[in-house]
Amino acid sequence: MYIKDLHAHVGQEVTLKGWVANKREGKGLIFVILRDGTGLCQCVVSAESVNNELFENAGSLTLESSLAITGKVVKDERQVGGYELQVTGLDIMQVTKDYPIAKKEHGVEFLMDNRHLWLRSNRQWAIMKIRNRIIFSIHNFFQENGFVLMDAPLFTANASEGTSNLFETDFFGEPAYLSQSGQLYGEAMAMAMGKIYTFGPTFRAEKSKTRRHLAEFWMIEPEMAFYDIFMNMDLIEDFLRYVVTDVLKHCREELKMVGRDTAILENIVKPFPRLTYDEAVRIIKGEQDVNGRNSIKSLEDDLAAVEARIAEVNKEIAEREEKIKTPGMKKGEIGFNQAKIDSLKQELKDLEEDQRNIPQWIASAKNFEYGNDFGGSDETVITRLFDVPIMVYNWPHAVKAFYLKRDPNDDRFARGVDVLAPEGYGEIVGGGERETDLEMLTHKIEEHQLPMEAFEWYLDLRRYGSVPHAGFGLGLERIVTWVCKLPHVRESIPFPRMYGNLMP
Ligand code: 4AD
Ligand code: MG
Repeated sequence: MYIKDLHAHVGQEVTLKGWVANKREGKGLIFVILRDGTGLCQCVVSAESVNNELFENAGSLTLESSLAITGKVVKDERQVGGYELQVTGLDIMQVTKDYPIAKKEHGVEFLMDNRHLWLRSNRQWAIMKIRNRIIFSIHNFFQENGFVLMDAPLFTANASEGTSNLFETDFFGEPAYLSQSGQLYGEAMAMAMGKIYTFGPTFRAEKSKTRRHLAEFWMIEPEMAFYDIFMNMDLIEDFLRYVVTDVLKHCREELKMVGRDTAILENIVKPFPRLTYDEAVRIIKGEQDVNGRNSIKSLEDDLAAVEARIAEVNKEIAEREEKIKTPGMKKGEIGFNQAKIDSLKQELKDLEEDQRNIPQWIASAKNFEYGNDFGGSDETVITRLFDVPIMVYNWPHAVKAFYLKRDPNDDRFARGVDVLAPEGYGEIVGGGERETDLEMLTHKIEEHQLPMEAFEWYLDLRRYGSVPHAGFGLGLERIVTWVCKLPHVRESIPFPRMYGNLMP
């Protein structure tokens, strides 16, 4: 019997198995909040209706103790999950001693070291449920639209996304690299199946700690024969819309648990603006406004607002700290003020982070050099001006991958497209139309100093029945992070692998 199914058993006696998420004691009553992986349920043990032994056993329960608990199901809207269990039986499996994650606030470092336990907390549980739903809806979208799932190899002989972030490994005495992308194999498969998608682990040796980068992440890469960049953008838009709409429909409760304001996600039905690289650069540098908003001006306004709020918060903290010291103040009132102070201090931390970041964003926006790829702060600057994802296409060919098709209308550009998520999140999708010209592609492989022999098979795709084709890659953790509005990508995957983080 699972908590999620209680609604069908009102009035009946059932047995739940799970862990203690919380416990409170009142007069002759013990309230155990049970979690079983499907939900939470308050179980009430009343001294009046159970024997002494059971009541004492319930009293001995600690955080994360494991148990089977029996009782009558009662509907009660006020309780978590909407149902309550009036306990008649208890079978303890283990009384947990000193569970490391207490109810008080812990720092992220500590929680990351205890990731194996942190996953049990409400917020992490909700994120993992949303991740699960996103994965499911991604498969649904492609399966419903005639795509064939393909598994690309993870040991590869060549780089596809640049040579600077390869994980090298030993493949029976020969060097091999962990896959940076399944795309090149996806292209081969698209010539066999028409429309395919991969969904697999991806490795990038990113030696930097950012809130966006993992060393191991999951990527979804569709590839379609006979698609050009514009059909590709149409597909990306339909796809992201489908996934977000599906999550909104099925994960309302979970989104609430992570504190997500869903207004932005509801916006996903609007068209995604399509900007050329040139336009995007003008917007970043403040030379072109977006709906009357200027990038530099709005950052400066935000900074002023942040600084004003910091002053306010500091003042309120000082006032409340002074108040607590008043002699004879009631315990409850002290507690109330202390809780306020704690939450103000948390707000202050976030504000101070903005205060440090915004001037850097302003500087990098002003100094952006035309022709460069976008960095994290450039993406932040431009996406703060939009409330829907934007698609930036036609990039200077030199800063993008070797396989992108040169724009037939202007050969300074390649037909790549990046999708940047709003609210400062930045790139979630990278893709484009593929180069079909054998000579141009060979030239690009040389220019990128890649070993030609490892690409002969790939060049065959341009020798035998070459057709226009396009595709894209979505980073699973990037979309989970944005949908949940997480501060850092590390919470979007059960066991993140990133620079400096291999355990647990
Ligand atoms: O832009 P990227 O590097 O593009 C490719 O790999 C292409 N082969 C995709 C294609 O056209 N088939 O990566 C695609 C996406 C990024 O937009 C981002 O969402 C995610 O993969 N990504 C990462 N996610 C987490 N950590 C990292 N280090 C990531 N690097 C890329
Ligand atoms: Mg990219």
